[in-house]
Amino acid sequence: MSDVRNAEERVARQALRERRKKEHIEAVQTLPDQGGTGFEDLVLLPESACEVDVDEVSLNIEFFGRPLRSPVIINAMTGGTAQAHGINRRLARFAQRHGLAMAVGSETAALEDSAAAASYAVVRESNPEGLIIANVGMGADVARAQRAVDLIRADVLQIHWNAAQELFMAEGDRRFRGLLQRFREVARDVTVPVIAKEVGQGMTGPVARRFVDWGARGIDIGGMGGTNFIAVEAWRRGLPLDQEWLRWGVPTAASLGEVLAEVAAEVTIVASGGIRSGHDVAKALAMGAHAVGIAGPLMRLAVAEDSDDALDRWLEDLHATLKMVMVLMGARTVEELRRRPLIMTGRTREWLELRGYLPFVEALSRRDRARASVAGALSEKS
Ligand SMILES: Cc1cc2nc3c(=O)[nH]c(=O)nc-3n(C[C@H](O)[C@H](O)[C@H](O)COP(=O)(O)O)c2cc1C
Repeated sequence: MSDVRNAEERVARQALRERRKKEHIEAVQTLPDQGGTGFEDLVLLPESACEVDVDEVSLNIEFFGRPLRSPVIINAMTGGTAQAHGINRRLARFAQRHGLAMAVGSETAALEDSAAAASYAVVRESNPEGLIIANVGMGADVARAQRAVDLIRADVLQIHWNAAQELFMAEGDRRFRGLLQRFREVARDVTVPVIAKEVGQGMTGPVARRFVDWGARGIDIGGMGGTNFIAVEAWRRGLPLDQEWLRWGVPTAASLGEVLAEVAAEVTIVASGGIRSGHDVAKALAMGAHAVGIAGPLMRLAVAEDSDDALDRWLEDLHATLKMVMVLMGARTVEELRRRPLIMTGRTREWLELRGYLPFVEALSRRDRARASVAGALSEKS
């Protein structure tokens, strides 16, 4: 009897999950980005005497020891349904054409229902040599996390932390105790490096520090300003979307500043949450991020009729802008861009100052000044 009930419950959970995935895709077509990443507070400093040719600019990066042809990562989105199967195949082929890393959506569906596995496995089949990132929720134990990795022969594993989304979701989790211990065990025992990932509410510096101490080898900051999953869940429930507190979280620029100041020297940092243009990408990299993750816009393109062309054009445009900015800043490589000066003003600067990260903000703005001249100016003043 209890076996029958368990089976019934599993089928009901699957049906609910399928509906949720479909509605998430629909919501992202319907709802605008949240806005307010704080990137408007960042100014890249031009190098008027620039001596870089557009053709010599390289966007190559190394990510967890693997070469990539772009700092743009297709961030975690979907899997588990027939529609997701087609979207994942399209995105994986796009990743392969352009040498991008790609994360799959939460693999819980495949872990609970083997019929759903194909919609994730297709990502590896379509891109046998590419860098692929597995994705599980914050409660996954070592066995589940390893199965998620093995299913797609993943190179890296993301563990997403989305308590705010769960609480807004009628059917979401309400119990969060004990998850950190699980994280620590997974980070220690799975066969690939683990990234701790936010999903749009933004991670703070001290939390990133704790994840690193618990074994994270990367942080995806998932800042506020792009896709907002608590608004998505409110939309699914027909709740009003003009409530101020749907803007819950740390805006992307502030989150990135906090996390970089705390742990950038030790682990790989992915900037994400509302990154939309080559100019945004340049700002995130100049702040010090190692790569950027983009989700919402790619989903909107991937469901459109002429997806392949649209995705290619989108990336070409983004890369063209990024290269232009790099030339104007005198940076031939992403590594050089990460050392160019950037000025931070307004609310983001105020935020970081209040949080005790002003030395980081000041160091960013003075990177192009020789140590001796800064020291000289200071001693003249005194
Ligand atoms: C349709 C959709 C589904 C998503 N599903 C997942 C998921 O399963 N796991 C996860 O870690 N993040 C998921 N995300 C969050 C993204 O990976 C990303 O963190 C977030 O959307 C912020 O980036 P963006 O502003 O570029 O969209 C999803 C995003 C979208 C748009």
